[in-house]
Amino acid sequence: MTLQFTYFPSLDRFAVSKNGHSVENRWFMQCDGYTSLEYLRYVPLDGITLCDINEHLLKCPQELCCEITNTCNAHCHVCIADAPNRSPIHLSSGILANVIEHLVNPILRITITGGEPTAHPDLTGIVASCAGTEVGIVLSTNGCEPRAVKRVLDSDRKVLLSVSLHGPKDVHDIFVGCLGSYDRAIETIRVASERSLAIHVLSMATRETLPTLPELSQALSELPISEHRINLVKPSGRNLAGMVTYEEVLESILNVCVSHKISIKRRDQPFLFLNCLGHLEVRHERAY
Ligand SMILES: C[S@@+](CC[C@H](N)C(=O)[O-])C[C@H]1O[C@@H](n2cnc3c(N)ncnc32)[C@H](O)[C@@H]1O
Repeated sequence: MTLQFTYFPSLDRFAVSKNGHSVENRWFMQCDGYTSLEYLRYVPLDGITLCDINEHLLKCPQELCCEITNTCNAHCHVCIADAPNRSPIHLSSGILANVIEHLVNPILRITITGGEPTAHPDLTGIVASCAGTEVGIVLSTNGCEPRAVKRVLDSDRKVLLSVSLHGPKDVHDIFVGCLGSYDRAIETIRVASERSLAIHVLSMATRETLPTLPELSQALSELPISEHRINLVKPSGRNLAGMVTYEEVLESILNVCVSHKISIKRRDQPFLFLNCLGHLEVRHERAY
């Protein structure tokens, strides 16, 4: 069976169909795999299973996640990247361009992340090194540096902006360990909305954030975001105390009524990962 992957940049999802079956955005937005509360980046259609997709992605990944720096201006205690780091390392745009040029299979999506990508001294150069490729670019930031994000967006490259907010103002600022972070993230969202870019907000679900996530989602409905994605803590992060279950998150958001989409992410599907030292590997499926 040959699988066909169609990436929808503003939805940040792939439709996976059987070869020859093209999928339209409007139709896709009505299918169960998209309307479901669980966020699957690769949505199986045509009787395809998640196993079929995983097997395919392990041999032929469709996306590259780039950790462009290991440093960060925040101190989230669960950080999967273990940032900030005492000796900052930044990936050079030359190495990134070289990796992209020599990929065996073409990819459809690149995430620029860290650490905190706005702490990279040449973030616009990094984005430019993906620019020749016909891929969706996701900039994943805590939004603490609106001016750095603005510089990237001024370069005219269409990106999906993914901003982390883990609760209402007081909860968020404590979670990331920096006063004023919430307000700066909101400013970053406004910078992107002035350019009519798709904006997703990502939240970590932990014991401390869970009770306030409905309030956060309500507050976000005042902003032009298209999706609020709540992530379960990945088991490989640091400091795992306070993890909550998928069912707990489901219960907490069930009665939230907002115009943007809400989703919950509890699994990774295989992807290529490039670390800040330029090491490339396929990361396997993880359900958590
Ligand atoms: C690693 S951060 C890097 C980008 C940026 N510094 C930020 O905070 O958005 C990317 C996303 O991963 C999430 N994240 C961090 N640690 C995690 C963990 N242990 N499990 C699941 N997601 C995690 C963050 O909350 C954020 O939404």
